[in-house]
Amino acid sequence: LPLSHFSHTLITWQQQCGRHNLPWQQTDAYLVWVSEIMLQQTQVSTVLDYYLRFIARFPNVQALADAPIDDVTALWAGLGYYSRARNLHHAAQQVRDDFGGVFPSQRQQLETLKGVGRSTAAAIAAFAFQERETILDGNVKRVLCRLFALYGNPQDKAFENSLWNLAEQLLPAAPADMPSYTQGLMDLGATVCTRSKPKCEVCPMQTLCLAHERGLTAELPVKKTS
Ligand code: ADE
Ligand code: SF4
Repeated sequence: LPLSHFSHTLITWQQQCGRHNLPWQQTDAYLVWVSEIMLQQTQVSTVLDYYLRFIARFPNVQALADAPIDDVTALWAGLGYYSRARNLHHAAQQVRDDFGGVFPSQRQQLETLKGVGRSTAAAIAAFAFQERETILDGNVKRVLCRLFALYGNPQDKAFENSLWNLAEQLLPAAPADMPSYTQGLMDLGATVCTRSKPKCEVCPMQTLCLAHERGLTAELPVKKTS
C-alpha cells in the first residue's frame, strides 16, 4: 500500500463525504478538548446538546477552572462516566495553574492533563494546532487491521505499539491537512468501516484494502480473548 496514497485518498473523501459542521470543528483547543472528552464514550448525536450547553456555561478554560465542581457535574448529568466531568474540571485547573491559562499545543504536554490519553491528546493537537500526531482509538485500530490484514490482537501491548508506528507512517506530509485527515480517520471508522457489516462498496479505501481483497473483513480484527 503506497503510504502517501492513503492520506491523500482519506483527505479527499473526508472533504467530499465526511462529517462537517460539527460545532467542535474549529481551532480553539479548549472547545476541541471538551468535545473529545465527551465523545470518548458517547456518540455524536447524544453529545451535541450536552456540548452546546456546556460551552455556553463554560465558554473558556478559565470559566471552567473557576467554577464549583457541582456546577460541572450538574451539566454532565445523563452523559455517564462521571469521572470525565471531574477530570475535565481538574484538567482546566491544570491549564490555569501549570500552563498560565494557555492550552498547551504539543501532544506530550496535552497528555499531562487529567483524563487525556495519547489518542485524545493527538486529536486535540491535530485539530487545534495542526500537529502531525496520530490518533489511535478502537475504530482506527479496526480500520488498520483490515486495511493491512493484520491478525494481531489489538489488546496486546506489543501489537498495539506496532499499530501506533503504522498510524504514524500514514500521516499526511502537510500539517495543514491534519484536521481533515484526523476527522477522516474518525469518520471512516464510525460510518463506513464499522465493526459489523462494513460498507466496503462505498469505501474510499476499497482498492487498497487487503481484508476486502482477501475476503477477511468478518474475521478482522481478531476477537478479544477473555
Ligand atoms: N469521536 C471522537 N472525536 C470525534 C470528532 N471530533 N468528531 C466525530 N466523532 C468523534
Ligand atoms: Fe473497511 Fe471494507 Fe473499507 Fe476495507 S474496504 S477499509 S474492510 S470498509
